[in-house]
Amino acid sequence: LALTHHHWVVQEASYTRLCHTKRILTVNGKFPGPTLMVHKGETIYVRVHNKGKYNITLHWHGVKQPRYPWSDGPEYITQCPIQPGETFTQKVIFSTEEGTLWWHAHSDWSRATVHGAIIIYPKLGPAGYPFPKPDAEVPIIFGEWWKKDVMKLLKEALRTGGDPNVSDAITINGQPETFRLAVDQGKSYLLRFVNAAMSLSLFVSIANHNLTVVGVDGSYTKPITNDYIVISPGQSLDALLLANQNPNQLYYMAARAYSTGVGVNFDNTTATAIVQYNGNYSATPFSPPILPYLPYYNDTNAAFRFLGRLRSLANKDHPIHVPVKVTTHMVSTVAVNTIPCKINDTCEGPNGTRLAASMNNISFVNPSMDILQAYYRHINGVYKRDFPNFPPYLFDFTADYLPLSLEIPSRGTRVKVVKYNSTVELVLQGTNLISGLDHPMHLHGYSFFIVGYGFGNFNRSNDPSSYNLIDPPLRNTVIVPISGWVTIRFTANNPGVWFMHCHIERHMTWGMDTVFIVKNGKRTKARLLPPPPDMPPC
Ligand code: C2O
Ligand code: CU
Repeated sequence: LALTHHHWVVQEASYTRLCHTKRILTVNGKFPGPTLMVHKGETIYVRVHNKGKYNITLHWHGVKQPRYPWSDGPEYITQCPIQPGETFTQKVIFSTEEGTLWWHAHSDWSRATVHGAIIIYPKLGPAGYPFPKPDAEVPIIFGEWWKKDVMKLLKEALRTGGDPNVSDAITINGQPETFRLAVDQGKSYLLRFVNAAMSLSLFVSIANHNLTVVGVDGSYTKPITNDYIVISPGQSLDALLLANQNPNQLYYMAARAYSTGVGVNFDNTTATAIVQYNGNYSATPFSPPILPYLPYYNDTNAAFRFLGRLRSLANKDHPIHVPVKVTTHMVSTVAVNTIPCKINDTCEGPNGTRLAASMNNISFVNPSMDILQAYYRHINGVYKRDFPNFPPYLFDFTADYLPLSLEIPSRGTRVKVVKYNSTVELVLQGTNLISGLDHPMHLHGYSFFIVGYGFGNFNRSNDPSSYNLIDPPLRNTVIVPISGWVTIRFTANNPGVWFMHCHIERHMTWGMDTVFIVKNGKRTKARLLPPPPDMPPC
């Protein structure tokens, strides 16, 4: 049976990586942090005690928390942070999720080291997995490691308005190269992948072995077999590995950046783990492990060849409900921008500007008290309800030259309010501003269907006919291709205040964010639950 009460202490601990020891923020001294294990439909309580020196909040990424955004976690969106020395007990309500999700800090940049996996098993009983039961299960968490203190890097980047340092290594279960996956010949393994990296989408592969994907972002997919996977920050993916290769040989699992965008610096190291067969085999340090094939770092076609194959399982036992009639149409650009440098500042962005980011040309600003509380208690002046449904201008956002007016966003805390049970269609349009980049966009409180995507500018007149309304993948984080678009749909049946943002940490900090406020429905079961008594004060 799953544990329902957890005591977590946010505290510093010393870790050595890349021959260099530093203090990092952890939960219970662990990096990566503890794995939560639950069954579908359970509710758990996590008592979070902040013994660190910074404000902190924790978020349960992909857990919908029906009618209860109070424990969702993003700072200044659904709560004010837990201050050093304080405690907040978070109620985490699992509903329809099944598979792998994760949790992470949602304040400043502390999630670099404060994160861990969430495993959601099927309900107890006969149902079980919709695929052959694996012999063993292993969480595989990707991260990025900086030799410097990440909070200092954040402060520095915000002061100069430039890009933060790129990470010094990609990690697999906290290790740049020493993690070992020991397997038995002939057995099958469910690998529960989580990408907890701060910036990098990844290509991942295991030499000589295929991976059979059976789930993404906490919902099942039709099984697809491939020699590599693609996983963005925020995404999770379940894949079966069959240990059926020559056991006398060692194999690398390798993870390397998938990074589009000209002039965008990224960590170009490759993280490796070793897959080793148990038993008395003759693998020796003298026969070097085999490296897998990985697509080239900017191979958008390879990335979308894989992503485009993903389909919801969508069978009798796992039905899906794709909204067919849309009541709320939205199109939003996702863009990196620049804003003018203040006098007396030295700004290290392009042409002496300060880097910013936006949705529909609005660079989101965190308010000083959380939007959820302001909404619930009818406090005025914290946010505005005028996030636009469409971009302020209509033209080809993927053209080589874009007007300067688009480069400079306006700043504000502007949210989108939708009625309970609205069916929302949101087209996310990438742009060519500041070189363009793939953006992994994440929505809290929901999973959404990815009904279509394409390259170039979205064209309302011809694209919707190709939408997949039968078995589109259900995710909480979607990669918007460089100079391309994706269309997502969801039914707004979870009342509350829900953050949407790019899961590249610096883009979130720069304002590539917005908020959905989903109003209460009429029935009691369609209304927000009241807050707990120990909400951190603002
Ligand atoms: Cu994974 Cu808003 O977060
Ligand atoms: Cu982004």
